Amino acid sequence: MEDSLIQVKFLNHKHSVHINRGETVLDAAKKAGVYINSPCGGMGLCGKCRVLIKSGQTRITAEERKFLSPEELEKGFRLACKAVPEGDLAVQAEEKKTESKILSTGVLNGELKFQPALGVKDVKIPKLELGCEKSYSGLLEEKLPGASYDLSILRELADITASGEDSFRAVMVGSQILTLKRGQASQSLFAVCFDIGTTTIAGELVNLSTGESVDSVSAGNEQGGYGADVLSRINYSSQSSENLKDISDVIVSQIDELISRLCVRSGIEPETVYSLFVAGNTTMLQLFAGINCSNLGKIPFINVLGRGTLLKAKEVGLKNLFPEGDVYLMPVIGGFLGGDTTACIAAANLNSEKQKLQLLVDIGTNGEIVLNNYGEITAASTAAGPALEGAKISCGMRADTGAVDECSLDGGDINCGCIGSGEPEGICGSGLIDAIACMLEAGVINMMGHFTDKPESFPDGIQSRIQKKNGEMEFVLSDSGSKHVSITQRDIREFQLAAGAIRAGINILLKRRGLKFSQLDEVLLAGGFGAFLNVENACRAGLLPCESTGCVSRISSIGNAALAGVKRVLLDSSAKEKLEIDCREIKHVELSVDTDFQMEFSEAMLFPQIS
Ligand code: FES
Repeated sequence: MEDSLIQVKFLNHKHSVHINRGETVLDAAKKAGVYINSPCGGMGLCGKCRVLIKSGQTRITAEERKFLSPEELEKGFRLACKAVPEGDLAVQAEEKKTESKILSTGVLNGELKFQPALGVKDVKIPKLELGCEKSYSGLLEEKLPGASYDLSILRELADITASGEDSFRAVMVGSQILTLKRGQASQSLFAVCFDIGTTTIAGELVNLSTGESVDSVSAGNEQGGYGADVLSRINYSSQSSENLKDISDVIVSQIDELISRLCVRSGIEPETVYSLFVAGNTTMLQLFAGINCSNLGKIPFINVLGRGTLLKAKEVGLKNLFPEGDVYLMPVIGGFLGGDTTACIAAANLNSEKQKLQLLVDIGTNGEIVLNNYGEITAASTAAGPALEGAKISCGMRADTGAVDECSLDGGDINCGCIGSGEPEGICGSGLIDAIACMLEAGVINMMGHFTDKPESFPDGIQSRIQKKNGEMEFVLSDSGSKHVSITQRDIREFQLAAGAIRAGINILLKRRGLKFSQLDEVLLAGGFGAFLNVENACRAGLLPCESTGCVSRISSIGNAALAGVKRVLLDSSAKEKLEIDCREIKHVELSVDTDFQMEFSEAMLFPQIS
């Protein structure tokens, strides 16, 4: 082994790798396939990538002094993205059994038709006699008129007929023959669909012979080690072709592993899974297909993928799917309006609804907004940033075990609920919205988001929570466990930026059509975040431009609509074709160049007054 290489051992994973001098523990973790939560993508900005050094040395950096207390540094805690080993190192990466809130069910509006493109045709061919002047491929074409096929089908046909069999089953996608199966076995056909989110992944195994759902699966996106948001991953993947392959392989092998898990649990052979349909934002889809995303990281943010892309399982590198099986990537509208948005449109049936005014909002790091004005669809995306997913918030975390996920006012105090049965360790997006709504309601902060200067005027419970730490005001949610969980003045500012971006985006789309929020027949909240938030508090905290409490009854969650939508196009080939055509008619409003957006955004930074 070269002297310049350093060995890093990950004790609780029993992995060990060699890295070059100057590389970090986070680099080593990526090489070893060890997941370390790193929301800021290794820039030293979030302080979430803590690891414990059990043996060996690293030089303590300024970022580590900022995020870790002297006692923690003394014990050996470091930030993986900043810790550069000076020699061989043994590391313990935090390994938590988490109860993630991952939503894998969504609502489908309208009737779901079962008419998949994938199907079977049973074929029986006569025995050919000497001098008959026919070929087996000619007979196949007679039996399946208009069918297309490639060399692999001719080879299968030769093998079947050479063994004396005269009956076989053709597995077909539309008019294309995928494979020929001996005999006419009643084996079912299966397919899988996935929603690849930046943070989480959800998928479903479907029996395409009956249309029934067989099993579902969900997990955190393992690309999280490359940053919590799409921009971190675009940056990483754009640096070199090795990086692109690296991050692309992570998601392909994770999807492969999840398909395998679904097959094993259901007792199904991967060879009988003939297609995979994938929803996801433009970056997730391009990375899944191994396509360079650097154009998505710079103006004018142009996407390579377009109106629905068909690939083969073997070219993507999937092993747990029929190799010639189709991999379909949902249509993409723009660089930041991807196949997750079009899948949500399909789930909500927005492109078939001509009688209603509907707004669909998918709240996340990137807020996607779609307005259906009696059949005319306008869409926009707005950069909300990662605050609502727990990043950039001092005690922020994902919706995992220990996250405060709900708060309510109770007499003269605030009640907080947290995921799991332990003590609060941080706060996730839904908890943050609730807490801010409660602080507004109680008067702890004003419309500008500033803390009260009269804490003594509050009841004891609330008063004791208003504190000053290191010169900054904060509202303490929990101090009972080992962690101090609070919302600081800076956190409120981050929240205002995120909520303001979403509210301003909605207002711009409504204005373009001369509409008001109160005129909408329906407001549909898509995504896991929309499902877990308290709608009244979301309006109170300014995430949605509700003018009165009367609007609240028209707001509903449609859950993981991206997964429901991709399943709809998998099961209904006419819905897929219609969506591909309708997507061409969607008007994309580019907010980053919209002259009114900045003004609207500044106004939306103020918390609203709701009548
Ligand atoms: S500080 Fe290390 S990943 Fe953010």
